[in-house]
Amino acid sequence: MRLENKVALITGGNQGIGRAVVDLFAKEGAKVVVGDLAEPKEKFGANIESMRLDVTKESDWQKIVKDIEEKYGRIDILVNNAGILTYEPITECSLESWNRTIAVNQTGPFLGMKHVIPVMQKNRKGAIVNISSIWGTIGAPGAAAYHASKGAVRTMTKNAALTYVGDGIRANSVHPGITHTPMVDAQSEELNNLVVSGTPMKRMGKPIELAYAILYLASDEASYTTGAELYVDGGFLAI
Ligand SMILES: NC(=O)c1ccc[n+]([C@@H]2O[C@H](COP(=O)([O-])OP(=O)(O)OC[C@H]3O[C@@H](n4cnc5c(N)ncnc54)[C@H](O)[C@@H]3O)[C@@H](O)[C@H]2O)c1
Repeated sequence: MRLENKVALITGGNQGIGRAVVDLFAKEGAKVVVGDLAEPKEKFGANIESMRLDVTKESDWQKIVKDIEEKYGRIDILVNNAGILTYEPITECSLESWNRTIAVNQTGPFLGMKHVIPVMQKNRKGAIVNISSIWGTIGAPGAAAYHASKGAVRTMTKNAALTYVGDGIRANSVHPGITHTPMVDAQSEELNNLVVSGTPMKRMGKPIELAYAILYLASDEASYTTGAELYVDGGFLAI
């Protein structure tokens, strides 16, 4: 029960990494609110509630935060996990596609922190985990907007950590390597094999392997950890 009595808001929790986080947090005793675009295909278990949230819309954030505060009186944990992967190099990326990727991956976590931090400040305690990527730190060809957005999440997290350290709020980023989720299943086998071949462990990560890292940073066990970046990538960044 590593999250006993904690209230956690997890974005993009219907599937993939977010879903593993949702299920693990509930198992560890948290009351979990999932903010996603629709109801999940697979129903959630006990202590998990689904609320509609488009992370790009400020009015959605205002509503979900108000609803959670009214119901539970606080938010202890925010996991900004919702994200999309677009795979266009700079010269082939339309402004529309660029704006959409930045809106979900970068503006989403910004709006989440903007509206959840004041609730955490009232309790003088909170843990934020923002999901970046290995592509938030190092380059690879293609996926220009994805790289830009994930790099922004990495440094924005450090900014939040330093700005709100005096309020008892911690902010850390998690950087998954290639992880077996619907997002990755939607990419070509050729591309996925290329990333796996560059991964020292020579396999994809499992969503639960990400969820355990996120659980640590969200829990009080990480009480001296803020502004950190945790790579869960089969050794990819060690090369
Ligand atoms: N899977 C990987 O290999 C990998 C690697 C590095 C980083 N990541 C990051 O991990 C996070 C989760 O990825 P995943 O692979 O589980 O993705 P996924 O596509 O399987 O799931 C993403 C979830 O986010 C939700 N979502 C998308 N847009 C949204 C919006 N505007 N508002 C609310 N919810 C929205 C989707 O409905 C879905 O439930 C993402 O931020 C992704 O960029 C994934």
